[in-house]
Parts: sequence; structure tokens; C-alpha cells
Amino acid sequence: MSEAKIIDGKAFAAGLRLRVAAAAAELKTRHGLVPGLAVVLVGDDPASQVYVRNKGAQTVEAGMASFEHKLPAATGQAELLALVARLNADPAVHGILVQLPLPRQIDTEAVLAAVDPAKDVDGFHPVNTGKLWSGAADAMAPCTPVGCLMLIKDALGELKGKRALVLGRSNIVGKPMAALLLAEHCTVTLAHSRTVDLAAECRRADILVAAVGRERMVKGDWVKPGACVIDVGINRIPAPEKGEGKTRLVGDVDFEGAVTVAGSITPVPGGVGPMTIACLLRNTLIAACHQKGVAAPAI
Ligand code: GUN
Repeated sequence: MSEAKIIDGKAFAAGLRLRVAAAAAELKTRHGLVPGLAVVLVGDDPASQVYVRNKGAQTVEAGMASFEHKLPAATGQAELLALVARLNADPAVHGILVQLPLPRQIDTEAVLAAVDPAKDVDGFHPVNTGKLWSGAADAMAPCTPVGCLMLIKDALGELKGKRALVLGRSNIVGKPMAALLLAEHCTVTLAHSRTVDLAAECRRADILVAAVGRERMVKGDWVKPGACVIDVGINRIPAPEKGEGKTRLVGDVDFEGAVTVAGSITPVPGGVGPMTIACLLRNTLIAACHQKGVAAPAI
């Protein structure tokens, strides 16, 4: 049995960050424009703290301005909305990201809807969701599915007419992923926990994107031979072989089972993960260009 091509998301993301940095340097020289990204973190969720730290470091590395706002876990809705309003009005801020999940006392939908759609680099505002589904050219699309699409196009080239199956219907990944694949003229199935005979649905797919958050759920015999398999899952499981109490990361796909069937496949870690922040930097650069009225570079 032949082994699939392993898609190196870490290397792809590094290349994308370099292209964003080069474009940012040119914007500064030619237009005096320094794209700025504001990240808002409420509370002290450890995983979110790591993401926010990485976002800040990579924003600065790309030659952009990073603004971090860390608020206590008990922050109220009015206070958070007031901060979003200040960031909306700040001309140095071109992108606003409110880290999710938010604490229980906050109405997440109200906060996401308060972000200026032009600065919504997460693509979570209803205006951007609507633009994405209606195929508007200037839609700001969520970063993780945009990163997945880049990897899929790099692996397969033309996507027109391919059968794509997206497993998971979240607003952050599954639904926007389906919209992006539809815009590439794929025949898209959006599957979920209530889908009947999920294995058979998966086996029909030339492109299989797994984003359900269930460790190693997609088995090797669910994969169509030669398919492109994109694993968005990040699940931490016990790893006694590494020592007592140790853990390791696995995806939503049983990698060992799928790698002998697929044509190409992303590993976990090192696949989709690094693409998200790289795409966030790209969205910030594009948002800054739109706000300044200069043509956005094709990157
Ligand atoms: N939490 C997990 N993923 C994301 C993301 O892409 N954006 C935001 N804002 N929060 C997240």
C-alpha cells in the first residue's frame, strides 16, 4: 500500500507569514501604513492565553502593530462592548479579534456583532457570514477554514467538480469551510453527529475535512483511496508511553489508519494548526488595505 503525501502546514504557514511580512514592509514604505491587530482576551483560560501570546509575537514578527487587551474573568458585557467600541474608532487598529470562548456572563453573539465588520478579521460578524455565503469578493472569511482551503488547493490544484465532505457544523470551522468549498465549485456535503451512515458519506469524498472535536473518529476505511484529508481536530489524550501523566495531541482522524489510504493528509500537530494565525495576519493586512483605500496584494 502506498503512503499519502504528508501536508506540511508548518512549512506552508511559515512561507505565508514571510509573504505577509514582505507585503507589510511594502505598505509601510509606499503608503506609510502599518497594519494593526487588537486581540481581546477575557479571563485566564490557559489554552487561550497561549494562542494570544503566539498571535502577538507573530504579528510583531510580520512587521505589524499588536495591541493586547487582557480583561479579568469577571468583566461585564457593558465594559467589553465599550472596549470594542473604542477599538472600532481607533485608526491604528485595522483588525479586532475577541478570543473565544468568552465567560458565561457575556453574550458572545452580541459582542461579535458589535465589531466593525471592516475590522472583523475573524470573519465572525453576521455581515461577513452573509457575504461569504453570497459569494461576495470582499468577504472576510474565518481563518482556520481559509488555511484549510489553501492547503487543499496546494495539494489538489483545481477543485471544480470535486466531492467535498465537511464533518462538523461549527460557525468557526464547519459552516464557513463548506461555503469556501462551494465557492470553489465543489459538490459539498456538510455532515454532523446526526448524519446517517457517516462512514459511507465520507468514503464518497475526494476532499474530507474533519472538524468534530472527537479524537481519531475518522477511520482509515472511511477514507476514499487517494482523497485529500484535512484534520482540524486538536485532542489531548493520555500518552503513558511518554511517562506517567504525559499527554499527546491527536486529531479527529485516525492518522495511522488513513495515511495508507489517502492521497494527501495533514498531521496533528503540524498540519492545519499553524495556518490559523498566518491567515489571521493575512486578513489583518487585507483589512488595513481596504480601510486605507489601497489595493490589497494577492497573497
Ligand atoms: N478560539 C478558538 N479559535 C478561535 C478563532 O479562530 N478565533 C477566536 N476569536 N477565538 C478562537
